[in-house]
Amino acid sequence: MNHYVIETHNLTKKYGEQTSVSNLSLHVQKGRIYGLLGRNGAGKTTTMRMLLGLTKPSSGNIRLFGAPLSGNEKNVLPRIGSLIEAPGFYPNLTGTENLMIFAKLRGLSGNDPIRRALSLVNLPYRDKKLFSQYSLGMKQRLAIALAVMHDPELLILDEPINGLDPIGIAEVRSFIRELSAVRGKTILISSHILPEIALLADDIGIIDHGVLLEEESLADLEKKSEKHLHFTVSDIHAATAILEQTLGIHDFEIQSLHELTLPCGIAETGRIVRHFVENGLTVSDAHLCEETLEDYFKRITGGEGIA
Ligand SMILES: Nc1ncnc2c1ncn2[C@@H]1O[C@H](COP(=O)(O)OP(=O)(O)OP(=O)(O)O)[C@@H](O)[C@H]1O
Ligand SMILES: [Mg+2]
Repeated sequence: MNHYVIETHNLTKKYGEQTSVSNLSLHVQKGRIYGLLGRNGAGKTTTMRMLLGLTKPSSGNIRLFGAPLSGNEKNVLPRIGSLIEAPGFYPNLTGTENLMIFAKLRGLSGNDPIRRALSLVNLPYRDKKLFSQYSLGMKQRLAIALAVMHDPELLILDEPINGLDPIGIAEVRSFIRELSAVRGKTILISSHILPEIALLADDIGIIDHGVLLEEESLADLEKKSEKHLHFTVSDIHAATAILEQTLGIHDFEIQSLHELTLPCGIAETGRIVRHFVENGLTVSDAHLCEETLEDYFKRITGGEGIA
């Protein structure tokens, strides 16, 4: 028995000669927000399309809610809400009217699901505005409303904050959190924006050139990030001489004429400062710097970075 809502094993997608997704083994746990992070062309959308049965894997397999997707599409797919491609909304109908059409197609009865979905994304119910008059942000909200309208257990959202302004992004973040924390939904969300994922996700998968480089909880990722002590001193040469000759520390890096860093845990900050000061140096700053997720990503992808 496992508790994964999404589990893939060696999932691979090839387009001709190109491998877009390569041996991807993804594990999304129930009730968690999983952020799939990767730069443009990394394979995020292709992965999500395979999870939704929109494109067939070249090899490997997918299990959703503990059962293979292949052969179970009819049972499994209605339990998922997705935002992956712009839904075909009718431009000359209002948002509510558009959702009514989709509700009918999905066999939903009454207007409550529509009202709830619109209120979740802060769009008015039975507004007169036509879809063609919507701003990009409103269109994006309506697409998210459509994804959640049938109250799915699992949400697969491909870059849901694309096209939103900072207030819109904060709102989407808050209702995604609410869906997870209050309503227990499992959410797979992709993004190429690192800080965004760091603010939202419980677990992170980093995908690069179709390969999953890392998969772990945000908490563990933060533990693994490197910490440095950063000093600003009056005389860098005197400072390095003290570190090497008096304290036996050689593992430092000179950052500028007055700044140097050394890995955390080598020596007590107070002791280093005391030796500097006793030798006539002025120490204008000493602090701990933690690696950002951005730095971490650069480190594991070999310096190319993201976003
Ligand atoms: N239908 C297709 N035919 C051929 N190549 C494709 C197809 N779909 C995707 N690809 C290729 O697969 C690779 C991964 O694309 P994908 O859209 O999954 O990346 P992504 O991570 O979603 O990128 P983005 O952040 O730009 O949306 C790209 O090189 C893309 O050109
Ligand atoms: Mg994409």
